[in-house]
Amino acid sequence: MKVKSILFVCLGNICRSPLAEGIAREMCKNNGWNLKIDSAGTSAYHRGEPPDRRSIEVARTHNIDISHLKSRPLNVYDDMNFELIIAMDSNNKRDILALGFPDHKVFKLGDFALDSIESNLGDSKNMASIDVPDPYYQGKEGFIATYNLIESLLQKMFMKLK
Ligand code: 4NP
Repeated sequence: MKVKSILFVCLGNICRSPLAEGIAREMCKNNGWNLKIDSAGTSAYHRGEPPDRRSIEVARTHNIDISHLKSRPLNVYDDMNFELIIAMDSNNKRDILALGFPDHKVFKLGDFALDSIESNLGDSKNMASIDVPDPYYQGKEGFIATYNLIESLLQKMFMKLK
């Protein structure tokens, strides 16, 4: 794996990005990849809280434990050394860039579903790509759909980073 560190970012760091962190860690473990993986929120609304119980529950059905994670806000000083900052949606990406993270490090997870990203990550910069929508106001089904979407996009992401 060429990339050594990835930070996943959503708004609250309690629903989507902790799932991305947990699933990505599991994929790294299963493939013997030694990457630093973390997650953060563009807001501090839920600072110090564990993931939403619906995210914990859907991860548990896949034998992934994210219950020990704690929400923390993204910080431009502490987090600048991550090689890739992966946003869940377009608002997250806008907020990450507004904090001062350099454009070349910042992607949306959905960018990895674009065919053009195959040969060059930078090719996606001006293309529309899918969001991982916020499931916070949805029920259990929304969290299952979120898990499945994140898992499928992470598979594409790791294939393209290899
Ligand atoms: P997340 O979901 O960004 O996937 O962690 C959210 C959780 C809480 C809130 C917004 C989004 N909130 O506004 O409290």
